[in-house]
Amino acid sequence: MPKDAPQTIFLADYTPFTHRVERVHLTFRLAPGATRVISRIDFAPNPDSAGGPFFLHGEKLALIEAKIDGAPVTPEITETGLTCAVPDGPFTWEAEVEISPESNTALEGLYMSNGMYCTQCEAEGFRKITYYPDRPDVMAPFTVRIESDLPVLLSNGNPTGRGEGWAEWTDPWPKPAYLFALVAGELVNHPDRFTTRSGREVELNIWVREGDLHKCAFGMDALKRSMTWDEQVYGREYDLDVFNIVAVDDFNMGAMENKGLNIFNSSAVLASPETATDANFERIESIIAHEYFHNWTGNRITCRDWFQLCLKEGLTVFRDQQFSGDERSAAVQRINDVLALRARQFREDNGPLAHPVRPESFVEINNFYTATVYEKGAEVIGMLKRLVGDEAYFKALDLYFTRHDGQACTIEDWLKVFEDTTGRDLSQFKRWYSQAGTPRLDVHEAWSPGMTGKAAGTYTLTLRQNTPPTPGQPDKAPLVIPVAVGLLDRDGTEVVPTRVLELTDVTQSFAFDGLETRPVPSILRGFSAPVILTRKQDREELAFLLAHDTDPFNRWEAGRTLAKDVLVRMIAEDAAPSPAYLDALEQMAQDGGLDPAFRALALGLPSQDDMAQTLFDSGHTPDPIRIRRAIRALGQAIADHAGSTFSDLYDEMTVPGPYLPDAEGAGQRALRQAALGFLTLEDEGARARAQFDAADNMTEQLGALVALLHIDAAEEQLSAFRHQWQRDRLVMDKWFGLQASMAPPEKAAKVTRRLTEDADFDWKNPNRFRAVLGGLAANAAGFHDPSGDSYALFTDWLIRLDPLNPQTTARMTTAFETWKRYDADRQGLIRENLERLAAVPDLSRDTTEMVGRILS
Ligand code: ARG
Ligand code: ZN
Repeated sequence: MPKDAPQTIFLADYTPFTHRVERVHLTFRLAPGATRVISRIDFAPNPDSAGGPFFLHGEKLALIEAKIDGAPVTPEITETGLTCAVPDGPFTWEAEVEISPESNTALEGLYMSNGMYCTQCEAEGFRKITYYPDRPDVMAPFTVRIESDLPVLLSNGNPTGRGEGWAEWTDPWPKPAYLFALVAGELVNHPDRFTTRSGREVELNIWVREGDLHKCAFGMDALKRSMTWDEQVYGREYDLDVFNIVAVDDFNMGAMENKGLNIFNSSAVLASPETATDANFERIESIIAHEYFHNWTGNRITCRDWFQLCLKEGLTVFRDQQFSGDERSAAVQRINDVLALRARQFREDNGPLAHPVRPESFVEINNFYTATVYEKGAEVIGMLKRLVGDEAYFKALDLYFTRHDGQACTIEDWLKVFEDTTGRDLSQFKRWYSQAGTPRLDVHEAWSPGMTGKAAGTYTLTLRQNTPPTPGQPDKAPLVIPVAVGLLDRDGTEVVPTRVLELTDVTQSFAFDGLETRPVPSILRGFSAPVILTRKQDREELAFLLAHDTDPFNRWEAGRTLAKDVLVRMIAEDAAPSPAYLDALEQMAQDGGLDPAFRALALGLPSQDDMAQTLFDSGHTPDPIRIRRAIRALGQAIADHAGSTFSDLYDEMTVPGPYLPDAEGAGQRALRQAALGFLTLEDEGARARAQFDAADNMTEQLGALVALLHIDAAEEQLSAFRHQWQRDRLVMDKWFGLQASMAPPEKAAKVTRRLTEDADFDWKNPNRFRAVLGGLAANAAGFHDPSGDSYALFTDWLIRLDPLNPQTTARMTTAFETWKRYDADRQGLIRENLERLAAVPDLSRDTTEMVGRILS
């Protein structure tokens, strides 16, 4: 078979497929080593196509036979698919292929996980199941017959037949192949029901292994709340008789929105109070919502091609963030979303992997399921909503759903519904989709008191935008940036409520008049655009905003900016933390008028990675060891300064009654945990040990363990924890992950190596691999230990995983995406390892592309 060289695919080269698919019928004869897939597909010429040879994707398939209209044919087969002479009019294609699910370690296509069959087809996995036009703009109704003795046989749509050893499913909604799914196994279900607002009765199930049945209730509740929310807020109803969710242990990503049959990484759905933390519950709620919301934004309306991925992902992330904000605290949700955006997307956008929200080329599409496409994609929608207003936003969305239902669309289609409903010209706004990089926003203020008596002062803000170059994009054009601004007077009263300034030029001035005194500005409220403010703020003003800002996001942001300022001075000048900052923080912690969840966030110090980028941006070469030392010293200073604040809080934030994963309890526990962290620096772990022994839920048990690991005094608790949880994979992932991510820098490589030698280190399981090696990469000072041992260990494992699981390997190379920030020695060591990886014979296309981009 001829071997095709990896190709770069370009957005500009899009052409429609030669044919339409009218109907798909699939039969699966399941067997671990030799599954037969028999397909019958009705094709008709596509009037929108310019013609060309008939090509079907197909990879690693053994073709047994192929027929057209019942007559055998002999297609020409390559590594990526087949071509075949076909009739001019409509015809029926039939093929039988053989595949081996048990040897599929890439977890893409049909594979096995702990004895069950499951699939992952997005983005291009269906071509590993049978020959097919595996592209999202080819949509068709599917009927699927599964033959197997396993008790549970599932596919998309509604069940339409069941007998001894077989089941049939029919999905009436035309869909692209990436939404196909099949599951077969010894599973049990957690059942429920939902009645849609128009009266459709829907059967709901979460399918799991027997021992996990007690971990389904929360996911089910989250699903029902998601269904209700989508009806109430977006007017979207579910459209089948059944909605199935399946938990799978071996899964490359979080979850997948297959029509009517969502498949989840078990870590993204299973939870019980004893085994899952508040953070786990929160993540599960948002992923369940995300996948459910895809039913309309992704499935009913899908993407024309993979360059449009943000059309479904950006919008669906935006929707799940709105949902979580409504279900919990909107302010806390926004702060958490921005923390994640900065940690992952800004990091990506400011390094060699920067790319636009809608990329223009790729080698392997799986490498573009990124924070930029997802999280920045969501921010772009948030900006659009801010610019047009809530009412216009929902009007545009209604038009989107009616105009494009059943279609495979583009970003142009998306923006057009906003143009048509609002009359706005969005051509400049569209640059957010094509221009990579994080814009910097500089602010100048001017105040003129006015001549004629009272309230005649004018305050002027001059905004200036600038986006630094990114790979392939040296010159940047100005963007439309919504900058939400409010003005406070000196005693904290809001004199000008939030107003959205629309920055469209490079530099623009905005005047506020009729003011009595010079105001204090609160800029970029609610983080109204994904930009970096470069304005130098003085410490008094920040302390004032931390105490008084009426915008909760900016209030938190003021505290964060102060903390960074203190840390930069500690690192660069060996300065001591300023007592004014310590006072302000303590006051905020004690302020009973503030939501505990908010206070917990405000007590959180900037991450090591965040500090590294901050230092780099201000012209320093970050030293991860010094950064770690400074953050720890600041923590110690806060603890030393506090008097009884934290022990009071620790007692006060005890949540009575049995554990419930609700937002209120979680907020109190988060604040209590923040207090415990500081207390542990003073009491050598006494409280943490007591909490560990008494805990009846994972949030408190793990919280105690984290506090003890922080002072490197958790040995006894680690072995007790292991003893208790040995048989629970998801909990054991935590045990592995924490040790790798929290090991002191000089021990990180050693600890991680020991973990990889553990009998329970099942490295072919992505969750376990990520826990250990991802844990090491998340241990900033440990990963960047000057010996280079961690880089080498990490690279050794990527080399080992790549032939089995290219997707997860490629994703994990992003641990190196920040390498250009560091000193020459570290850069040299990282380069050596990246080049060692690049030189591996037969390195996957996925990893080759990533390493090439990181090195360039
Ligand atoms: N569409 C899924 C989600 O965001 C992600 C699946 C991506 N999988 C992959 N192998 N690229 O919910
Ligand atoms: Zn998604």
